[in-house]
Amino acid sequence: MKKPRHLLTLADLTAAEIERIFTIAEDLKSKWAKGIREPLLPGRVMALLFEKPSLRTRVSFEACMVHLGGCSLFLGQETGFGRRETMADFARVLSQYVDVIVSRTYRHQTVVELAQYAQCPVINGLSDLAHPCQALADLFTIRELFGRLAGLTLAWIGDGNNVARSLAQGCGKLGIRMVMATPPPYRFEAGFLEQLRQDVPQLDLAVTEDPVEAVREAAVVYTDVWTSMGQEAEADQRRQVFAPYQVNAALMAHAQKGTVFMHCMPAHRGEEVTDEVIDGPQSVVLQQAANRMHLQKGLLAWLLAAQT
Ligand code: CP
Ligand code: NVA
Repeated sequence: MKKPRHLLTLADLTAAEIERIFTIAEDLKSKWAKGIREPLLPGRVMALLFEKPSLRTRVSFEACMVHLGGCSLFLGQETGFGRRETMADFARVLSQYVDVIVSRTYRHQTVVELAQYAQCPVINGLSDLAHPCQALADLFTIRELFGRLAGLTLAWIGDGNNVARSLAQGCGKLGIRMVMATPPPYRFEAGFLEQLRQDVPQLDLAVTEDPVEAVREAAVVYTDVWTSMGQEAEADQRRQVFAPYQVNAALMAHAQKGTVFMHCMPAHRGEEVTDEVIDGPQSVVLQQAANRMHLQKGLLAWLLAAQT
């Protein structure tokens, strides 16, 4: 049996593969806009295994599969995932029934183990380490907005979290410079940085404590919550540390005219971003969210075609 391809982090895809996924997504998006829902995956079944809440990831993946002629099973935690039997038994059984698994887990190691035993592709729909589908959709959105990726600068303001790590991998692969304004304790961990340098040696990454310096040259200003799911006990401390990193109108005034504002959502308005910015003319957050569906359609079509 052919070994399945997985998407656990963006280290799993080459730049050419990402471009191919973008091309398929672009084609399916323009057909969708004309009312055409091309059934590229008839009869295919996707399982969604989620340990944490989700609006965008869950619903966009489910809609994708319906548009592509397949179906999805939202399993949440009702299967006893991680509780009733070993991961090996669970993954080997589930992957005999379905063609692809999308999982959202607390620990990244959980999705790694799931993929290790699954006989079908496993897509990481967010773990504490990475959020590859989000970063792919974001890069697709930036390409749509600017008509190119290489040579642009993305300013990341805030926590060096799962979304930031996936963006760093994607930016490096596609030639975007990344400037992170992040307080020192919340920057990329040494182990991740070392791996990043190995996986994406061409990445141009700068780190600063000054959000103003970060946004000056940026085509994209990106932020995410200060407290990610699973870190709720640290929320008070994080609110204090990240207060100077809020993306507000005063900070955006230091960016160029055509700079766009991005956020993966859900947003904690009044914390990492103010209403005036997220609802303002530079914000592209709704286009970003919409593109989760279009991009993942390209991803599913590409990944499942690669299995046959
Ligand atoms: N951006 C994102 O993944 O949103 P959900 O948590 O709603 O899926
Ligand atoms: N960093 C956030 C992203 C949510 C989509 C979290 O992990 O909660």
